[in-house]
Amino acid sequence: MEEKKWWKEAVIYEVYPKSFKDSNGDGIGDIKGITSQLPYIKGLGANTIWLCPCYKSPWSDNGYDIADYYQVAPEVGVNEDLYELIEKAGELGIKVLMDLVMNHTSDEHEWFQKALSDPDSQYRDYYFFREGVNGQPPNNWRSYFGGSAWEPVPGEENMFYLHAFTKKMPDLNWDNPAMRKELYKMINWWIDKGIGGFRIDAILNIKKNMVYGTLEADGDDGLVGIQKYIINQPGIGELLSELKAQTFSRYDIMTVAEAAVPDEQVAEFIGPDGYFNMSFDFRAADIDVPESGEWYEPTDWTVNQLRDIFLTVQKEVQNAGWGATYLENHDQNRSVNKYLPESDINDITKKMLGTILLGFRGTPVIYQGEEIGMENIRLDSIDQYADVQTHHQYQEGIKAGLDAQYVFNTVTKRSRDNSRTPMQWNNSKNAGFTDGTSWFPVNPDYAKINVETELQSDNSIYAYYKALIHLRTVSQYKDTLIYGKFVPMFDTVDNVIAYKRQLGTQEIQFIVNFQNKRIDLDIDIEQFKVLMSNYEALDLTGAKLVMEPYQAVVLSNY
Ligand code: NOJ
Repeated sequence: MEEKKWWKEAVIYEVYPKSFKDSNGDGIGDIKGITSQLPYIKGLGANTIWLCPCYKSPWSDNGYDIADYYQVAPEVGVNEDLYELIEKAGELGIKVLMDLVMNHTSDEHEWFQKALSDPDSQYRDYYFFREGVNGQPPNNWRSYFGGSAWEPVPGEENMFYLHAFTKKMPDLNWDNPAMRKELYKMINWWIDKGIGGFRIDAILNIKKNMVYGTLEADGDDGLVGIQKYIINQPGIGELLSELKAQTFSRYDIMTVAEAAVPDEQVAEFIGPDGYFNMSFDFRAADIDVPESGEWYEPTDWTVNQLRDIFLTVQKEVQNAGWGATYLENHDQNRSVNKYLPESDINDITKKMLGTILLGFRGTPVIYQGEEIGMENIRLDSIDQYADVQTHHQYQEGIKAGLDAQYVFNTVTKRSRDNSRTPMQWNNSKNAGFTDGTSWFPVNPDYAKINVETELQSDNSIYAYYKALIHLRTVSQYKDTLIYGKFVPMFDTVDNVIAYKRQLGTQEIQFIVNFQNKRIDLDIDIEQFKVLMSNYEALDLTGAKLVMEPYQAVVLSNY
C-alpha cells in the first residue's frame, strides 16, 4: 500500500472569503463570518479549509494582488480574527490552508512602490523593469488577461515593467536571491502561525525565459501568449527545490500547487520527494475553453472526451504521484452549468457529479456552495460583473468586432463571477449572507437553493455529499477509497464514466450513466452491495445493472 499521509486523507473545502459570510453588515464576507460557520464545514465532514487570499490588497484581481503578505485585508478583518479562525478550526480538527501568491505582488506592495520611487533601490530587481525600443515594449508578449504584458513606468521614458496578469500585478523576479529570501521568511512566518499548509498560486510561471524583440505573433493583435515563455521553463526546478528546502520541507504541512504538471514530470513535482504534495490539473475544468485560446469561439466537447480526460489524468498522476481533484473553484463557472445541458440540471445530476469527484484517487476539493448545488448567476449587463478577467474578455470580443450580445452571453457563461456569488445560507434577505448591501448580487435562486433547506432533508444534495465524504474519511471503506488503486471501467461504453478503487481483494466501483437515457451494463451485480446511489431504488437482481438517466452508483464487494 502506498505511504499513509494525513493530507491524502483530507477533504478540502475552499472558501472565498468575500462571499462566504458577512458578520458585520458591511456587505462583504469576513473572517469572523467564516469562523461562525466552522460547525457547518465540520458538519459536512471536510477537515481542511483552503482560504482564498485575504491579505491586504486593492482587490484588482480579488485578492490575488497582494499589497502586504503579513496583513489581513481590513475589508475581511484583522490578523487576530485569522489567528482565532486557525485556533477554532484546530479545535474542531480542521486545518487552514492559506493561498500563497508568489508569482507577482500588487503594484501597491511596498517593494514595488520603492522600486518605482527609486530606480537605484534594491527593490528594482525584485521585479522586471526593462527598457523599451523607441517607446515600444521590450517584446510583444500578451498577458493572460489580454493586451501587452508590459506597462510603461509612470514618469520614466522608454521604461516598462512586466505583468503576466493585470497591470496592477507586477511579476516578481525569482532570479533575485534577496527577493526569494523575503518570500521564504514570509512563508515560514505563516507556518509558525499554525496553518496547515498552502495552496500555491500560478507557481509554474515563476521562471521567465526573457527574450526580447518582436516574436512570432499567435493572434491578430500582433502579440504572442506569455505562457509560452514563462510556464515551466528550464531552471524552474532549482528554484522549486530551494523553495521546498527553505520552507515546506521543514514542517509537516500540506502543499497544493496550482500547476498542470506534464506527465513526464509528475514524479519530480508531486511524487513522494516532489516539490509539492499534490497539484491541480486543469484539463477537465477547462474542457469548455477553446483550444485556439480564442475564448469567444464556441466549444463543442463530448462526455466521452470528458471521461477520457478524467481517466487519463487519474492514471498519469497515479503512476508517480498524488493529485488534488476538483470540479469547481473560484476560477470556474459552476460545474452543473458547465457539464450539463440546462434542461438536465437537477438534484439527480448534481449528486451524480459529486459521486464522480469523491470517488477519485487524490485529495478532493469542494468549492463553497457546490455541496448544495449552487448554480451560475445571470446578470443583465456587463457592468454588473466584478471579475477583471470577465471584463477583459468582453472588451477583447468587442474589439474583435463581434456582436455585443453574443460576446456577453459567451463571456458570462464562463465568467469566474458565477462561482463568486455570495453563499446561500437561507431564504431570508440576501440569502442570509449579509444584513447589509451585498458587495455582489446574490443569485436569485436562493429561495430554492440554500443551506437551511438542504439541511432539512435526508435526501438533499448536501446530505449526499456528506454521505460520500463520510464514506471516504471515516467509514470502513476509507482505506480503499483513499489508498486503493484507480482502475478505469467501461471506458469504451459511450457516455459512461466508471472506475473502481482496489485495495487487495477489496473493490469499490463508481459507475455513472452520464446521459439522459436508460442503459444497462453487464456486471455480476449479485457480488456487490450498493453503498450509494443518487436514485432511491436500484434493481439489484439479475445479471445486468440497469441504469436510469444520469444514475450514479457506488458498489462494494465487501
Ligand atoms: C490563479 C488564481 O486562482 C486566479 O484567481 C488569479 O487570477 C490568478 N492565479 C493570478 O493570481
